[in-house]
Amino acid sequence: MARLSEYGEASRTFQVLWRKGKSTNTMSDNFFNAAKGRRSIYAIKKSSTISDNKIGEIVQDAVKYAPSAFNSQSARTVVLFGRHHDKLWEMTKESPEHYAQTEKRLDGFKAGHGTILFFEDMTVVRGFQEKFVKYQDQFLNWSQQANGMLQYMIWTALETEGLGCSLQHYNPSIDDQVKLEFQIPAEWSLVAQMPFGERGGEPNSKEFKPLEDRVKIFHD
Ligand SMILES: Cc1cc2nc3c(=O)[nH]c(=O)nc-3n(C[C@H](O)[C@H](O)[C@H](O)COP(=O)(O)O)c2cc1C
Repeated sequence: MARLSEYGEASRTFQVLWRKGKSTNTMSDNFFNAAKGRRSIYAIKKSSTISDNKIGEIVQDAVKYAPSAFNSQSARTVVLFGRHHDKLWEMTKESPEHYAQTEKRLDGFKAGHGTILFFEDMTVVRGFQEKFVKYQDQFLNWSQQANGMLQYMIWTALETEGLGCSLQHYNPSIDDQVKLEFQIPAEWSLVAQMPFGERGGEPNSKEFKPLEDRVKIFHD
């Protein structure tokens, strides 16, 4: 393994910069306050801090403004409230793969106010694979990355409104039932589920790895 000195001048500059400490406040602090407030919240209630209408608007804005490779806009969402939300978690509980280990956990999600389902429209993804053959192998990966950005945007926005959310992956075992129950087009591929509701508890404690091992900055 190379020693620090072998990386040359750039790594020395990085070390100096690192020791300077935090810079003064800037506009991005608002953004990072929201980012720091986003946590996985598993204890959620049937109530909501904002109207269902507002939740719908947040999801629409995020779907509209989240970036995507080649502006492909292949992400799709379905927002479930009330009995539709309850049905999703009942169906998940009935799935033999999940019942035994996670019954209590699934009841916890059902106790929430709603769930957002995230999909990728594979007709769109395949269309871009055919159109841009050079990047054919990348589009599946990019579509998942873009979907993650969308998930993050909605997760963070809802939590700034005082809601608690978590990110779940009971796909693919619930895919067929979800398609049938919510009349989802056959080409939409389920990526994630995000149950949410008014916060009913605190997040788990969280440890952070040293940033020195995770961020390298090269500077003149
Ligand atoms: C791509 C991805 C997949 C995840 N999948 C799950 C999941 O299936 N179930 C779950 O409870 N949390 C899941 N999480 C949440 C992480 O466990 C959580 O974000 C991480 O432990 C950090 O905690 P925090 O969200 O409170 O900051 C996922 C997060 C990401 C980014």
